[in-house]
Amino acid sequence: MKTIKVLTVCLGNICRSPAAQGILQAAATQHKGLDLQVDSAGTAAYHIGKSPDPRSIRALSDVGVNISAQQARQVKVEDFDYFDWIVAMDADNLANLKAIQPAHSHAKLVMFGAYHTSVALGEVQDPYYGEYDGFVVMREHLQRISEGFVAHLMSVDQESSCL
Ligand code: 4NP
Repeated sequence: MKTIKVLTVCLGNICRSPAAQGILQAAATQHKGLDLQVDSAGTAAYHIGKSPDPRSIRALSDVGVNISAQQARQVKVEDFDYFDWIVAMDADNLANLKAIQPAHSHAKLVMFGAYHTSVALGEVQDPYYGEYDGFVVMREHLQRISEGFVAHLMSVDQESSCL
């Protein structure tokens, strides 16, 4: 089984993308036919080395996912060759990633919310400046997107194994 490498990306790498990483890692353990390696990063350098926001840690802990050991890092150019997928949380993240994406890079760069478009443009709203409730909304949105994304990966994997 081929390992599929996924990088989740937001602005600060302390709220949305660490949560997306934890949710995808948890989803991978529930799908026997799926071997995922997941990491996360931010387009900005504000929070390098920091743990996820305590509100993200709590929102994920409430569904049994522990993201407390993660440490924020910034996206680097090498990520575009290492990862198979780079998934952006919002349109700004996607634009910033496109601006540094090398020509002919390996990774498929997409909006994560494209796999469950419950909000405009498939964006995962940034909960950083809001209350804790926003982190629960974020987690639920990420869980739905993750289901759609994993289903997509499984279908692509099925197709390639039939070739
Ligand atoms: P994230 O949220 O991009 O989901 O990690 C944010 C975290 C920090 C800031 C903005 C958004 N900030 O401005 O410091």
